[in-house]
Amino acid sequence: LPYSKPVDVDYSFDGPFGTWDKAQLQRGLKVYSEVCAACHSLKFVAFRNLEELGYSEGQVKAFAASKQVPGIDPQTGEANMRPGLPTDYFPSPYPNAVAAAAANGNAIPPDLSLITKARGDGTNYVASLLQGYQEPSAELLAEHPEAAPSPGLHHNIYFPNLNLAMAPPITTDGQVTYDDGTEATVKQMSEDVAAFLTWTAEPTLVKRKQTGWPVLVFLLFATILAYMSKKQIWAAVK
Ligand code: HEM
Repeated sequence: LPYSKPVDVDYSFDGPFGTWDKAQLQRGLKVYSEVCAACHSLKFVAFRNLEELGYSEGQVKAFAASKQVPGIDPQTGEANMRPGLPTDYFPSPYPNAVAAAAANGNAIPPDLSLITKARGDGTNYVASLLQGYQEPSAELLAEHPEAAPSPGLHHNIYFPNLNLAMAPPITTDGQVTYDDGTEATVKQMSEDVAAFLTWTAEPTLVKRKQTGWPVLVFLLFATILAYMSKKQIWAAVK
C-alpha cells in the first residue's frame, strides 16, 4: 500500500556534532508521561536515568514517588502497588498483555523504549506518525478499496499498512502545558516526544559521536608517527 515516508525534522542530535537539547527531552518526557504512558510502557528506562535529562536527585525522587509501581508487601508477601523509587523502572499501564489487548481492540501497545530503533528512520517516523492521521483520500480508496479502515482502526498515511489500532493520541494544541513556556503545538509535542524516545533508545548517542573525534585525532597522530618511523628505519637504505 502507498504509505508516506516520514518527514525529515532537524534535531539537535543529528550529525557528527550532535548534542541533546535537554529542554526538548524534558518536554518529551512530559508528553510521554501525560499522554503515551496511559497505554505504552517504557520498561528499559529507570527513573534514575532521568538525571541525564538535567533533573536533580530530589526531582527524580519526587517524580518516582508520584508513580505507582508493582511491589511486594513485606508483611504478607503479596503483590501490591507502592510509590516508585529512583531505581525502579517506568511501570506498565496494564497488569499483563491480555489486559493491554482487551483495552485496545486486541492490539497491544508496544513498549516504547526502543521504538525509534525498531522502525526505520525511527525518530522522524514517530513524529510523523503522531501527525499522520487523516481520512483516506478518494483516489486512494478508488485504487485500493482495502485501504479503508475497518472498525476500531484509524487511518494514518505513515503507518505501513495505513491503518492502526492507536487512535490519534495528540490531537489539540496545548494538550500538555510545558514548564519552559514553549508553545505546545501538535507538531511541537510530536517532535519533542520523538526526541525523548530517541534518547530512551540510545542514551549514549551523543557520547558515541563525541568519542569519535579523539579517536580520529589519535589515528592521525599514530599515522604520522608510523610514517616518521618508517623514514628513520629506512634512512640508511638508498
Ligand atoms: C502503537 C507511539 C499514545 C495505543 C504505537 C506505535 C508507536 C506509538 C510508535 C507503533 C506503531 C508501529 O507499529 O509502527 C505513541 C506515542 C504516544 C502514544 C508517542 C503518545 C504521544 C498511545 C495511547 C494509546 C496508544 C494514549 C491508547 C489509548 C497504541 C496501540 C498501538 C500503538 C493499541 C498498536 C497499534 C497497532 O499495532 O495497530 N504507538 N503512542 N498509544 N499505540 Fe501508541
